[in-house]
Amino acid sequence: MVPNVVMISPGFPLEMAYFTRALAEVGATVIGVGDQPVNVLPDEAKAALAHYEHVSLADEGAVLAALQGLSRHVRIDQVECLWEPYMVLAARIRETLGLPGMTVEQTLPFRDKELMKQVLDAAGIRTPRHASTSTIAGIYAAAEEIGYPLIVKPIAGAGSADTYRVDSPAELEDVLPMIGHVEVVSVEEFIEAEEFTYDTICGAGSILYENVSWYRPRPLQARSYEWISPQTMVLRDLHRPELAGGIEMGHQVIAALGFAAGFTHMEWYRKADGEVVFGEIGARAPGARTVDVMNYACDADLFRLWASAVLTGQAAEVSRPYNAVSIFKRAQGAGHITRVEGLDHLLAEHGDSICVLDLLPIGAHRRDWRATLLSDGMVILRDPDLDRLVAMADRFGRELQLYAE
Ligand SMILES: Nc1ncnc2c1ncn2[C@@H]1O[C@H](COP(=O)(O)OP(=O)(O)OP(=O)(O)O)[C@@H](O)[C@H]1O
Ligand SMILES: [Mg+2]
Repeated sequence: MVPNVVMISPGFPLEMAYFTRALAEVGATVIGVGDQPVNVLPDEAKAALAHYEHVSLADEGAVLAALQGLSRHVRIDQVECLWEPYMVLAARIRETLGLPGMTVEQTLPFRDKELMKQVLDAAGIRTPRHASTSTIAGIYAAAEEIGYPLIVKPIAGAGSADTYRVDSPAELEDVLPMIGHVEVVSVEEFIEAEEFTYDTICGAGSILYENVSWYRPRPLQARSYEWISPQTMVLRDLHRPELAGGIEMGHQVIAALGFAAGFTHMEWYRKADGEVVFGEIGARAPGARTVDVMNYACDADLFRLWASAVLTGQAAEVSRPYNAVSIFKRAQGAGHITRVEGLDHLLAEHGDSICVLDLLPIGAHRRDWRATLLSDGMVILRDPDLDRLVAMADRFGRELQLYAE
């Protein structure tokens, strides 16, 4: 039986189109539901869809009505969503149509960072000391109890938006006006540490694929200084001793949240003394083209692996012959890109290691580096040797420069 699968937002963000295509390739009939007018859907998505409902995803009633109408004519077997803002909507559709898969209750701990940590605390997982509050007095009380340094951030944040490190009561006073628009604030113990991810593809209740990425530097720093070229480094060897604690924690977190099928993206911290602390988890793939980086590390198609996992509960084993890294470039200056420096000698020396070189063309307007990690360009490199790849990635950080003048 060919399953009929509803894919929420099949063309946005862009990588959704690859997941959509993979569902069709693995054998599903795919029904897209999204805000994009059909003519702006990426080709990969358009070609893979048997049907598309153009409806505002922010309007839950309209989405439910459209799908209830559709389900009178076609059997709907499954609902998939890999885009964070609509995970709960996807769960609501499943409940309304009586479909298997994650319920609203199972989804909420992936969306609400306070609930997430409560569930994980109960399972004995080490989270930063934390509190959530919607009042100024509550923030002060939480700060008092947790102690400095601390982090204040939205409970449902993304992209490190409105996230601040606070070292003293005086700094807290400075930060408060900047988070005035955030409805519910999470206050956390600040964890001084290296930052990693633990990502999985699960099917039928088992972890079928796992990945660890290393952020260089940690995202909050990368977001704070424009001159930095942030890196996400997919690690070849998951048996490195410094990763053991985080991977073990990842297994416990997946079990505690009862996650059964789909992609997960967890962030965790490793302190200098070796202690491992949970950061956050999403029931979705990592963004910023990290799935591409993972594909280059494995010489595999993880979009398809995901589709196979959610459709059949099984997935082929993949090996990981390489470390691979994405490096995001931010131009110097404002306005339009005028020139690129350093590319020629880097190409001459490291051309064999380059998988993707995707820089804004001369004349293009700079992107807002605070709004998108993709910034003004990105490079993906790979190498079986980690030290060599780190050195190479740092050279692309320092020596490849875009200018906007
Ligand atoms: N308790 C903490 N201690 C130290 N650093 C923290 C803490 N909480 C958050 N950070 C820093 O802020 C960054 C953003 O926080 P978090 O991952 O919770 O939010 P986010 O906005 O969902 O992130 P993103 O969408 O970028 O993954 C983290 O990657 C980390 O660098
Ligand atoms: Mg994060």
